[in-house]
Amino acid sequence: MSLVGSVTPPGDKSISHRVALFSLLARGACGVENFSPCADCASTLNAVRALGGRVESDGDTLVVHGAQGELSSVAVDCGNSGTTMRLLSGLLAGRPGRFSLDGDESLRKRPMARVADPLGEMGAEVSTTDGRPPLGIEGRELKGRRFDLAVASAQLKSALLLAGLQAEGETLVREPHLSRDHTELLFKAMGADLSQADGGWLVRRSGLTMPASLRVPGDISAAAFMIVAALIIPGSRVVCEGVGLNPTRTGPLTVLQRMGADLLIEQQGSDPEPWGRVEAAYTPGLKATEVLPAEIPLLVDEVPILALAASQAEGATIMRSVGELRVKESDRLAAITSQLGAMGARLREDGDDLVIEGPTPLETSEEYDSLGDHRIAMTLAVAGLLNGALPKVAQAGCAAVSYPDFYRDLEDLSR
Ligand code: S3P
Repeated sequence: MSLVGSVTPPGDKSISHRVALFSLLARGACGVENFSPCADCASTLNAVRALGGRVESDGDTLVVHGAQGELSSVAVDCGNSGTTMRLLSGLLAGRPGRFSLDGDESLRKRPMARVADPLGEMGAEVSTTDGRPPLGIEGRELKGRRFDLAVASAQLKSALLLAGLQAEGETLVREPHLSRDHTELLFKAMGADLSQADGGWLVRRSGLTMPASLRVPGDISAAAFMIVAALIIPGSRVVCEGVGLNPTRTGPLTVLQRMGADLLIEQQGSDPEPWGRVEAAYTPGLKATEVLPAEIPLLVDEVPILALAASQAEGATIMRSVGELRVKESDRLAAITSQLGAMGARLREDGDDLVIEGPTPLETSEEYDSLGDHRIAMTLAVAGLLNGALPKVAQAGCAAVSYPDFYRDLEDLSR
């Protein structure tokens, strides 16, 4: 079996979350095309509506109306989505009212002190449950501050910038390594008082105006599964159309190219962010590489699928400082070492580094566990396809958290 043809991945999840969430503070209305159909973004839309925002479907376009910060005091269910919860924490911290944020079993295990503590330093009232959800938020007058973040997290950076937008004075956010900048780009497009200063982002209290229209580019993190599948399955050639190519997201492409991958990347547009097509062809003789700490935030969601690629490459691939993966939708380091390990891949954690030795043939005839984590489920599916068929994976349907048509798209490409 090979994968041949073209595929259009769903709209980018990170950008979709942001355009919907930021509407809560904004004026005006935006026609959003290609909004992500994924379950995480449905959680965001539910949250936006519960808080008093208005979102309507008009054919393939989603019309998102600004709520201008007039929000209802409600309990919000963020489902599986860390982005919804963390961004909302910063957004709600400065709004009058009482809000509570909760989520599913996986989200309830995720660290929230990283947002609650710095928001508290701005004067916010954000309570956690032993550092985890549920969160209780009472809106307060906020004061701007300088932050030197300990982790490179776009979710944390965005929460603080959202609070800074409502705070008195200046808020400066510096991160140890550059993380995805969708918040900054959208803030600028929406007229926020945001600038680069002192090696970070400086925001002052300002209003947001919805852009009249916006087309969300395809999700490179979804495309990455198809790209790696094409690279490692003999005879494959897959074109991913309309994919977002924001340089803070193209880390997986850079690393795969360094491994010798046969990739053709063609930028076709730049509005609202760079986007284009990526063609991936089967590449025998992929080579191991070292992925440096500064590269990790640029590919943080692609570590599982890159680990699978590395298991098929010649030599020892080292991914440095991937400790953040322990606090994603599952402990992704444990998940990939145990589940890809059960297939025969040779990979191990070495402190906060991940070491993968290859190439190794994989045995995929048993049942594997996604741990309910969408990116693990999709990685295991691609691993099975190396042997010609989808493997048995517990909770495989969780792929819908980010890529609802994942299995259908794979089937359409199968020859
Ligand atoms: C996201 C940021 C990343 C990523 C997540 C989406 C975002 O999390 O893993 O899937 O949209 O800001 P961190 O910024 O916490 O690493």
